[in-house]
Amino acid sequence: MQNKIKLPGLIDPHVHLREPGATQKEDFETGTKAAIAGGYTLVLDMPNNPIPTISPQALQEKIDLARGRIYADVGFHFGASSKSIQYFNEISGKVFGLKVYMNQTTGDLLMEDDQTLEAVFSTWPKNLPVLVHAEGDTLQKAIFLAKKFGNQLHVCHVSLRKEIELIKAAKRNGLQISSEVTCHHLFLTNEDAKRLGAYGLMKPPLSSKEDQDALWQAVVEGTIDMIASDHAPHTRAEKEGEKPPYGVPGLETTLPLLLTAVNDGRLTLERLIELTSTNPKRIFGILQQPETFVEVETIPYTLNPNNLFTKCGWTPFVGMKVTGRVKKVVLRGKMVYDGQNIFGPYGQILKG
Ligand code: NCD
Ligand code: ZN
Repeated sequence: MQNKIKLPGLIDPHVHLREPGATQKEDFETGTKAAIAGGYTLVLDMPNNPIPTISPQALQEKIDLARGRIYADVGFHFGASSKSIQYFNEISGKVFGLKVYMNQTTGDLLMEDDQTLEAVFSTWPKNLPVLVHAEGDTLQKAIFLAKKFGNQLHVCHVSLRKEIELIKAAKRNGLQISSEVTCHHLFLTNEDAKRLGAYGLMKPPLSSKEDQDALWQAVVEGTIDMIASDHAPHTRAEKEGEKPPYGVPGLETTLPLLLTAVNDGRLTLERLIELTSTNPKRIFGILQQPETFVEVETIPYTLNPNNLFTKCGWTPFVGMKVTGRVKKVVLRGKMVYDGQNIFGPYGQILKG
């Protein structure tokens, strides 16, 4: 691999910027600085805040809070709940997708009731994706509903071989289905979970080596469409507390890890660009950011938490040797990162 490489600005379809309500973990400023330092010029924020993004007011509050404080471009996903269905048409022009939590995770948006799920899938506009947190067998239900109501389905953080089989079969049957995988599932397994304790705790949990091998194969051959960070920061105190929350940060480690895979011959640079830019752009209908790019350098170093921009200040990849560092980020013609310092804020709210 060449020493210096230019890439399009990366796009992350799945981040938790935590504002409002959990700014001890992250906020719009620190989260989008972490994005830029990681080579991401555009991120899509999830709705599972303490006051969830399930009403036009909550969405507007996020937009108002983000304005003038974001370093990368930010778009939002709306949250599904029995209370939010009534607003689907009203807010659909302001968001990139609807997030449906079909398993327990951080936040209070779990939906298990079949009747409500049917109402959600049937009411959501068909031109925008339904993103599902659906682990293992739950994914079967999501695929069934998307097929029944003609939805565009996006499967978040695929972590198991059996989920890949379900996605492949759904693709063969002509369903409009896309999916993402995270770097924690690609680079860590349940063996690492023992060592990491609460810092390796997330949903879906770290899986087996066999599952991880299947994820890599699916990433390489094209069954998986995107890499998402699922950047889900929590404070050290929360992670070390009685009941540690699920989730790990990822915005600043994803590109270094993927470049390491390219350097090791596990992934081509072309595929990296499809997974982190071309496909998210196409699937979420994201417009080109003009004069926007990232320069990376393939030098070896060890990941450490000291120079991270994320407010949480830790990474589950601490101590890992990687080859690939972000040297420069340019957003709409302006240098926003020089390898050390962030400049701005020059981020825009998308559809807001
Ligand atoms: C996420 C969070 O903390 O918001 N946690 C996680 O373990 N992935 C929620 C989610 O995406 O499931
Ligand atoms: Zn999730």
